[in-house]
Amino acid sequence: MKLKAIIILTVLAFIAVVVSGAVAQELKGKHKENSIACVDCHKTETPDSPADVEACVECHGTQEDMAKVTEKLLSTLTIRT
Ligand code: HEC
Ligand code: HEC
Repeated sequence: MKLKAIIILTVLAFIAVVVSGAVAQELKGKHKENSIACVDCHKTETPDSPADVEACVECHGTQEDMAKVTEKLLSTLTIRT
């Protein structure tokens, strides 16, 4: 009985990881339109961890400039859960 519950929880946890991974790898908005590649932000063809902010700065100028870009987006943001 207890073992069964552990197996079910393990499977659910695994599915959650796979699903959230798929969401993280899907490009949206301007980056998709401008054909930005994974390697442009992640510095590797096979990313498995978050990109470094240094990559954003290469295309977007300073972090202050980045803040201005995201400020405009705040009103239209859809929070995905
Ligand atoms: C515009 C820059 C950018 C591009 C292009 C991009 N990523 Fe990312 N990626 C990020 C950032 C930023 C994060 C961290 C997101 C967070 O912490 O919520 C991330 C996170 C990830 C993660 C880690 C998720 C996690 O939870 O640890 C993976 C895997 C990943 N991206 C894969 C990809 C793949 C595959 C592509 C190409 C289809 C891609 N990324 C393109 C910026 C980018
Ligand atoms: C290879 C160049 C490149 C890199 C690296 C890059 N971007 Fe972009 N980004 C662009 C381009 C091009 C646009 C579109 C600009 C426009 O049309 O005004 C854009 C647009 C954006 C936008 C506007 C919103 C939208 O509609 O998508 C945001 C926010 C953004 N980038 C954040 C980031 C962040 C955060 C990172 C680092 C994780 C990053 N970018 C890395 C090239 C890049």
